[in-house]
Amino acid sequence: MSQLDLVVIGSGPGGYVAAIKAAQLGLKVALVEKDPTLGGTCLNVGCIPSKALLHSTEVYQQALHGKKHGLVGAEKITFDVSAMLANKDKVVAQLNKGVEYLVSKRGIEIVRGLGRLDKPGKVLVRSTGGERTLETKNILIATGSTVVELPFLKFDGETIISSDHGIALDKVPEKMVVVGAGAIGLELGSVWSRLGSQVTVVEMMTSIGGPAYDADVTKVAQAAFEKQGLKFELGAKVTGVKKASAGVSLTAERDGKVLEFPANKILVAVGRKPNTTGLGAQEAGLKLDERQRIVIDDHFRTNIPGVYAIGDVVAGPMLAHKAEEEGVAAAEIIAGKSGHVNYHIIPGVIYTEPEVAGVGMIESEAKSKNVEVKVGKFQLAGNGRAIATDATTGFVKVIADAKSDKVLGVQIVARGASEMIAAACAHMEYGGSSEDIARTCFAHPTVSESFKEAAMAVSKMSIHSL
Ligand code: NAI
Repeated sequence: MSQLDLVVIGSGPGGYVAAIKAAQLGLKVALVEKDPTLGGTCLNVGCIPSKALLHSTEVYQQALHGKKHGLVGAEKITFDVSAMLANKDKVVAQLNKGVEYLVSKRGIEIVRGLGRLDKPGKVLVRSTGGERTLETKNILIATGSTVVELPFLKFDGETIISSDHGIALDKVPEKMVVVGAGAIGLELGSVWSRLGSQVTVVEMMTSIGGPAYDADVTKVAQAAFEKQGLKFELGAKVTGVKKASAGVSLTAERDGKVLEFPANKILVAVGRKPNTTGLGAQEAGLKLDERQRIVIDDHFRTNIPGVYAIGDVVAGPMLAHKAEEEGVAAAEIIAGKSGHVNYHIIPGVIYTEPEVAGVGMIESEAKSKNVEVKVGKFQLAGNGRAIATDATTGFVKVIADAKSDKVLGVQIVARGASEMIAAACAHMEYGGSSEDIARTCFAHPTVSESFKEAAMAVSKMSIHSL
C-alpha cells in the first residue's frame, strides 16, 4: 500500500466516525482494529447491548403490569433469558455489519490486528496472520477505555464480574450486588432487578448518578428505582470480599462501621480507564497524564508530530458521543480545515426507567460559581401525554442566566429523557434563551411539552402548573 494520509487506531464511535469523516474530506484512510468486529466497546459490550437488554426487560415489565390496559394473564408471563441475549446479539451483529459496510463503502481499508506506534509515520499492525507496517502522514489514536478493576475485587468472570460479563449472564442471579451507582451500575442493576434479582447498589458517594446531576434530580430517580425493587447503600466504601454460604459476601465501610452484603454475583462498575495497552506509547515517547490519558492540545495533537488522539483515551467524559464529536473535529483538522467541539454542550444520559439526562451547568454548580440563575421546573404529573402513558414520574428543569435569560443547563428525569435532551442541546448550541424555548411550538400531546413548560416556568409563566 502506498503512503496513507491517515491511520486511525481503534474502530469505536470515535475512531470509525473520524475515519469516515476523513474519507469524506478526500483523505486516504486505514482503520486498524484488534477485535474481530468493528464498533469498539460502545457497540460490542457497552451502549448498544445494554440498551437492547434494557428494552427487553422494559417490555417484560410493561407486560407484567399490563392488566389495567386490558392484558389478560399478565401475572403468568415468564421470561426467557436466552431469547433476550440472542436478541441483543442480533442487534449488535446487525450494527457491526452496518459499521463495516459504511466504512468499506467509503474506501477505507480495514486492517485487523493490534496497532502500535512504530518509527515516525509508521504504524505496525500485529495479528495472528503476521505483521504489517502502514506508512502514513498522520495517526489518530482512538483506542478507548477498559473497565477499572478494584485491587481487592479482581474479576473472575464468574462471581466478580465487570459490565462485559454483566451483559451476558445466562441466568438471573438470586442476589446481585452492584458496586458503583454510576450509569453502568444503574443500567445493568435495573436490567437484572427487572428480571427478579435482588439487587443492592453499594456506592461510596451520598447520591447516585455521579456529579453531573443536581440532588433534586437524583433523589426523584433513586425513589423511582427503589420502588422498582433496587436497594441502595450510599456513603459505603467497598473494602473487600469474603466467602459466604450464598456464594460471597461483599464488605464495605460506612461511618467506621463494617457492612456485609451477601451475593451470588458482584458487578463492579466503578469507572473505566484509558486503553493504551500494546500501543507502544512509552517506547514512542507519547506523553500521558497522571491518569494515564494521552495528553493533547486543543487541536487533538499529542506531543509527537503527526499523532493525534481522541475519545476515552484522552481527558473528558467517557461518552461515545463526545468521542464522535472529537473524531469529526480531529479529521477536519487533519484535512486542513477547522474543527471544534463545544465541550459545554455534551449531554449525559442514564438509560433507566425513568431516564436521567442533563446538559450544561447544573444548579448547584451555578451557585458554587456565584452565577446568578433563574430556574424553571415542570413536573411530568402535569403533562397530558405523560398521564396517558403511565410516565408521570419526574420533571424537567431549565437553568437560565438571571440577567440574559440564556439557557445554561437542562436536567430531566423522565421516560424518554434521552430523546428530550436533544432539543435542549440544539437550543443551547444556538445560544437560546428560556423565552426562545417558551415561544417554540411543540407538538401536543408530547412529554417534550414539559421542556417548554419548564422554560416558561423560568419567568413563572408556566401554563399547566401554578
Ligand atoms: P462512573 O464513574 O460513572 O461511576 C462509578 C461510581 O462508582 C461512582 O459513583 C463512584 O463514586 C463509585 N465508586 C468508585 N469506587 C467505589 C468503591 N470502592 N465503593 C463504592 N463505590 C465506588 O463509572 P461507570 O458507571 O462504571 O461508567 C464508566 C464510564 O462509562 C463513565 O464515564 C460513564 O459515563 C460511561 N458510561 C456512560 C453510559 C451512558 O452514558 N449511559 C453508560 C455506561 C457507561
